Amino acid sequence: MTASPKTEAPPQHFEVRPFPAPVGAEILGLDISKPINNEDFARIHRAHLDHHVLVFRNQQITPAEHINFSSRFGPLEIHVLHQFHLKNHPEILIVSNIKENGEPIGLGDAGAYWHSDLSYKPQPSLGSLLHAQELPSEGGDTLFADQHLAWEALRPDLQQRILPLQAEHSYLAKYEELRAKNPWRPKLSQAQVDQVTPAVQPVVRTHPETGRKALFVSEHFTTGIVGLPQEESDALLAELFAHSVKPEFVYRHRWAPHDLVFWDNRSLMHLAAGTPDHLRRRLNRTTIAGDTPF
Ligand code: OGA
Ligand code: MN
Repeated sequence: MTASPKTEAPPQHFEVRPFPAPVGAEILGLDISKPINNEDFARIHRAHLDHHVLVFRNQQITPAEHINFSSRFGPLEIHVLHQFHLKNHPEILIVSNIKENGEPIGLGDAGAYWHSDLSYKPQPSLGSLLHAQELPSEGGDTLFADQHLAWEALRPDLQQRILPLQAEHSYLAKYEELRAKNPWRPKLSQAQVDQVTPAVQPVVRTHPETGRKALFVSEHFTTGIVGLPQEESDALLAELFAHSVKPEFVYRHRWAPHDLVFWDNRSLMHLAAGTPDHLRRRLNRTTIAGDTPF
């Protein structure tokens, strides 16, 4: 930390309070729209690596402040569904079931299956930040499953078997199925299809900052294990999917107004538990670019 005392922001005196759950912690007393000095930032970064999902409470922030804070962790991704970018802020994807004038304002079924964001890209996301804008009176929870714990709890023989394997991840795998259920999901243009060619990923990845191994297959995007006959691949993936989201690995987030939730896509999978159709839900998402899994 070399910033001179003159330019350093004052400390913010915030608290990191772990949840009584396998993962996650809430951050109390921090205002992410205010300058954050290097020491405070290092504490946030450490807490993120330790707890994998951080809930910053009561962040009454603008989209620009959400983007600024997110950018401190790395460059931001622009989502392929440009239809749902926030106006003038393409770094923000609107996640919402709201329709205005018969048109969806955002991605209504983001997270309908367990997944890690952008695992279908050669360089999947480091982490994502969702900021609550409008919350339903019931439902709308988000679940997070710790894939380090999932890996560590696997039978040793299964660990050995999967360690050298790779799997294909595809954005398009479930797209038409989701579109059949949610017809408002846009039909992809050829340019969009070209942006999301499948990627091959290790079945077990190593976190680039902590060195911990994590399972890295998901119901949403993983289509098959490279080199295995389809039937064998399906059976193995079904076993891994079921294992990876056991209750003992999961934190269930019940949203409070102005929550900003920042999770590590290299450590966790997540799932939208679902919102009753007649209730409105809207969140803004930024997505931090990551590196090539190994
Ligand atoms: C996402 C996502 C889950 C939710 O925005 O990446 O999966 O509960 N959202 O909205
Ligand atoms: Mn997601």
